[in-house]
Amino acid sequence: MSNLTFGIIKPDAVRKGVHGSIIQRILDDGFQIRGMKLIHQSRKQAEGFYAVHRERPFFGELTKFMSSAPCIVMVLEKENAVPEWRNLMGATNPAEAEEGTLRKEFASSIGENAVHGSDSVENAAIEISYFFSKLELV
Ligand code: CMP
Repeated sequence: MSNLTFGIIKPDAVRKGVHGSIIQRILDDGFQIRGMKLIHQSRKQAEGFYAVHRERPFFGELTKFMSSAPCIVMVLEKENAVPEWRNLMGATNPAEAEEGTLRKEFASSIGENAVHGSDSVENAAIEISYFFSKLELV
């Protein structure tokens, strides 16, 4: 599974209509898409996904935002997929994101930052299984 990672095109990006551009950038960067679906998360689903952040002061804001509108969940494949996807996304805070990254181009704030990506191979496996069954992966 080390060649797989999990990503989300967040509600802000879908609302702005830039999800197509982000998917094109993912393909141009050499990722294969193994799973993809448009979902509208419930508050409970978002709270479960971000459970590791439960104690953080921004947890309420984060889960409200993530359940505010549709998003796109994805399973991406590439050699070293976890760091490769993080590189393409750029820093969590768009003010610190480098030129050429998705967050530099599409994110508006640290909370509404266009995309999510797993931070480790272990978490990628957990996050993939949170949204996808094996049958949904090609
Ligand atoms: P993500 O990679 O989806 O994982 C956790 C998210 O919490 C992160 O992206 C940010 O969007 C969000 N986040 C992190 N720090 C803050 C903050 N200080 N205020 C609001 N949201 C934050």
